[in-house]
Amino acid sequence: MADVMIQADGLVKIYKSKLTEVLALQGLDLTVETGELTALIGNSGSGKSTFLNMIGGLDKPSAGSLMVDQKNLFTMSKGQLVKYKRDTVGFVWQNNARNLMPYLSTLENIMLPMHLSHGRHRRAKALELLELVGLSAKKRSRLNTLSGGEQQRIAIAIALANSPKILLADEPTGSVDVITANYIFDIFRELNSQGQTILIVTHDVALSKKVKRVVAIRDGKISSERILREKYADRLKESNIDWRKEDTQEEYAIMDKAGRVQIPKEMLAEMGLSDQKVKIEMKDGQVVISAPQKEESKKKE
Ligand SMILES: Nc1ncnc2c1ncn2[C@@H]1O[C@H](COP(=O)(O)OP(=O)(O)O)[C@@H](O)[C@H]1O
Ligand SMILES: [Mg+2]
Repeated sequence: MADVMIQADGLVKIYKSKLTEVLALQGLDLTVETGELTALIGNSGSGKSTFLNMIGGLDKPSAGSLMVDQKNLFTMSKGQLVKYKRDTVGFVWQNNARNLMPYLSTLENIMLPMHLSHGRHRRAKALELLELVGLSAKKRSRLNTLSGGEQQRIAIAIALANSPKILLADEPTGSVDVITANYIFDIFRELNSQGQTILIVTHDVALSKKVKRVVAIRDGKISSERILREKYADRLKESNIDWRKEDTQEEYAIMDKAGRVQIPKEMLAEMGLSDQKVKIEMKDGQVVISAPQKEESKKKE
């Protein structure tokens, strides 16, 4: 199982306060392999940030198990968790103010979180990261002189400073313009082509259409998955395509461990079921689900 980076099984998260209980995750299962670029989409409040924070070691599940890079997030000691947050994950938020030092230069900001043991290599690595996010020319600029989009690119470089096994990004393009959003996604894709595992939460439909794997989360559970069609995979950099209009991905329903599948609402409506019973049969190796014949349902009465 060396190629599995994230393995979430039956993750449950309950936020309790005196008066209320919020079930943020309701038995979420997800496997992310090493080297994958995965986008997580879903309505506001569906549990995306809760899940990402858990992978980032910022929050603990109420039940279930979560293995990241073969480390068990549920049973980790405080010391192990500190090390995990520093070495295994890099985190990019929608708004990165809390991670940036406004009066230091971009280069200094990137070098700050790096291990002291890196010594002379820190500067070389920071320069390399500046190059990656296209801001080499601004290496001496103070951070508070950069635009919001540029600061976001620096935040990505900072998240990568300790060469994390996985890069997590929670709506990183939520407060930048379209051009910067595209630029940031190109950085993620470039990083991914070099082998970086990335999990990114996004609201942006056009951008999610350019990602190889999109997982939809609904009510704290993974509900469906879309995989990029092969013919689009090598056209990602083409700027003349209106991604919003293209049907780039194939959609899959997700079966849980007990074999349950949720049938999309539109399909259910078209089936026109009169009660809760459906007929399941094998036909040429395929499972066919259909509405029972009228006579059949009568016989049962
Ligand atoms: N610290 C918290 N305390 C109480 N409820 C929370 C907390 N964080 C998130 N929630 C609730 O959990 C649910 C999922 O939230 P979240 O993971 O932030 O969703 P998303 O990122 O998909 O918008 C929401 O109903 C939210 O109000
Ligand atoms: Mg969120």
